[in-house]
This record gives sequence, structure tokens and C-alpha cells, in this order.
Amino acid sequence: MIEIETQTTATLAPEALAAYRRDHVAVLQRLLATKPAGDSHEADLGWLTADKWAPPARLSALTKLAKQVQRQSQVLVVVGVGGSNQAARAAIAALQPDPAPCEIVYAGVNLSAAYYQRLLASLADRDVTIDVIAKNFQTLEPGIGFRVFKPFLVAKYGEDYASHLIVTGTPGSAFEQLATAAGYPFLTFPEDIGGRFSALSAVGLFPMAVAGIDIAALVEGAKAERAALVADDSVQNPAYAYASLRQFWRLAGGGVEVLAHFEPQLDYFGRWWTQLFAESEGKNNSGLYPVALSYSEDLHSLGQYVQQGQRFLAETFLKVATPVGDLTLQPSGVADGFDYLDGLDLAAVNRVAEAATIQAHQDCGVPVTVLTLPGIDAASFGALFYFFEFAVFISATLQGVNPFDQPGVEAYKALMFAGLHRP
Ligand code: PA5
Repeated sequence: MIEIETQTTATLAPEALAAYRRDHVAVLQRLLATKPAGDSHEADLGWLTADKWAPPARLSALTKLAKQVQRQSQVLVVVGVGGSNQAARAAIAALQPDPAPCEIVYAGVNLSAAYYQRLLASLADRDVTIDVIAKNFQTLEPGIGFRVFKPFLVAKYGEDYASHLIVTGTPGSAFEQLATAAGYPFLTFPEDIGGRFSALSAVGLFPMAVAGIDIAALVEGAKAERAALVADDSVQNPAYAYASLRQFWRLAGGGVEVLAHFEPQLDYFGRWWTQLFAESEGKNNSGLYPVALSYSEDLHSLGQYVQQGQRFLAETFLKVATPVGDLTLQPSGVADGFDYLDGLDLAAVNRVAEAATIQAHQDCGVPVTVLTLPGIDAASFGALFYFFEFAVFISATLQGVNPFDQPGVEAYKALMFAGLHRP
């Protein structure tokens, strides 16, 4: 389970925070009573039970197809943007076994010709399967990915190309009709889950399975996290404690939340978190600006700003209780000035740097929250996905915005489509 510890500062008075939490805990209790059927957000709550779209039979089917892809291909190209690829990319970057049964690469994440040219060149001599993930298949990036890779596969495999092209889309959509007509395997993008909440559906789970991740363990981790969260309707509920802290900080004049970690395996998790909170809460000219930092590297960059820049930051550390990796530092035998490190474990050094950073940032007035996950493994990732999805549901509700839409991104799309003369 994800554990939370908040270290308040003078800029975030503990009594006032406690009062805010007490005053708003009814919101948590209302959301805990929420059922996917009958709630005003009914159409978007397919993720809420954690396993609605990941029962054992579905996991088996996804694993079977994943093994087929592993047999036929050295590379899976995941084509999707925004919430359509972030969860898979986060889990795969952290958990993919070595050696990997299949390499996973990403397309449909940008509109760069240079990116595609380089990717296509790298795939020329390799066996490839493509998974195009798009909820409604109107977004430009996956559309271009499809347009680039369909002819690529036809040139490579001729009439057999269809068995190398998987479509993940909404049942009943034009995209499903296209897949059926062309003979592409079709995976379900649940109608009642938006992209950024889709980690525990075929959207996230299938690429993870192809990468060799134990998706059953990941879903079990999410279910256990849900069970723990629904069992506590008090101010101690960790997701509520986190969400209410964020909203209290916003109301106290805070503008930014930094999510920091000391394990680069979590870098893409930071991107998933950023997208989840930015698209869910950045509305009505409100919401904390989410920034994910990777320490210790970013201590030599934005760390300076956190320490001495504008005082509008709150910081959340993702701490790993049992990190992966074991490396004892050996004497160098030369006068390099680092003898004090002789015999130390690098994980312990990382811990010292983490504790020092937390202390230094707290000392300069940054309210620090520490979220501890058990380890970097499939079950912990399931727990993390569920924790933050539930937390953003609470946080956005406290903020008074709908976490499940993203009307702002339509503005640039309208101008872009006009520029492209889309009919
Ligand atoms: O989180 C979201 O809902 C969005 O970021 C979408 O995932 C993103 O816009 C891609 O949408 P689609 O799957 O329809 O291409």
C-alpha cells in the first residue's frame, strides 16, 4: 500500500490543514460511496473498481496475444498519445525484464518527420508488430502513426500485414469497423474510461504484457490498493490526505506541485502523473501546475529553483521502501578525494541524498509530503496507478472541476485542423 507522511512548514500551517481536512472529509465519504452506475460521472468511472476491465479471463486473453506478438516480432510499436500510452510506457520503463521478450518503442507521440524517419530506419531489418491505440481515432498523432505504419507493414509483410497490426479502440466505433473489415486483431478501449485512467485496461496492460511484465500481479496490486483505500473513510485515508493537502496548498496561494524521486526507473511514471493531474485539474483558470523531477540529476538544475526560487511550490517525494540494485563502491587506489565512500552501498548513498534533500527543501519553507511505495515491481505499480487515479478524483472534486474532460486541448486542435483543411 502507498503510505503518506506530510511534513508541514510555516507556509502550510498544520492546524489549518487539519481543519480543512476535517471540513471536507464528506467529499471523500461521498466518493467512496460512488458506484460506476448512477453517479453523475457514470460514463467515466470504468476504472473505479480497478478490475472491471481486467478480470482473469481478459488478462489470459491479453497474455495469449502478447505471447503471439513476442513470437512473431522483435519490436512492438505502441502508437498512441496522451493517456493512450503513458501508463504502459511508465511501467515498461521501470519493470521490463532483461533480456526483454520484445522491445517496445513508441510512435504517435509527436509530429516529427525526423523522429519517424529514424524509427523507420531502426525497424527496417526487424520483425515488427504495431498496436494503434486511440479511443475515437480522430486524434492527429495516432492517425499519422497509422498512416505511416500501415504501408510500412504492407511493404514488409505483403498480404500477411494484417496479423502485424493490432487496433485498440472503442467497441462500436468506426475504428473497430475498420479493424474488422481489414482483419486486424481488435482490443477494447473501454468506453467508460478516459485515456489517462486506462492503465488497468487493454490500453495499458497489453503493451506491458508484450514487454514481459506480470500484468496479473500489477492488477492484484491495484485491487489491494483499492481495498485499503475504500476501508478508510477518515481524514487518514492516504489518497484523501494527499488530495486535500494539494487543494489546501492551492487555496493557500500555492501554484505548483513537484513530484520528485531518486530512482530514474520512475522517470516515465513522472510523465504519467504529470499528464493525469494536468489534464484532470488544469481548468477554470485553476489547478496546481504539476512538475515531475528526477533527482539527483535535477538537483543540479531545478533543485536550485526549488531551494531559492518563488515560494509557490509544494513537493511530493515518491520514496521506494526497497529499491532495486546493489552496488558496493570500491576503493579507487588513487587520490580522487572520495575515500569516504569506500565500501558504501550506492543505494545507501542515494538514501542519504534523499534525506538531505527533503530536509533542505523543508528548511527553506517547501511543504514536503513523502509517499512511500513498497518497491519497483508490478504490484507496486498497480498500487501507484490506482492511488493517483483515486487521488485525482478526490482532488479535482475538492477543486470543483470535472477530472474526466479536457476541453482546453480542443482549442489548439480546432486551429490545427483548420490549418490542415480537415473537412
Ligand atoms: O487522457 C486523455 O483522455 C487524453 O490525453 C487522451 O488519451 C489523448 O487525447 C488521446 O486520445 P485518443 O485515444 O482518442 O487518441
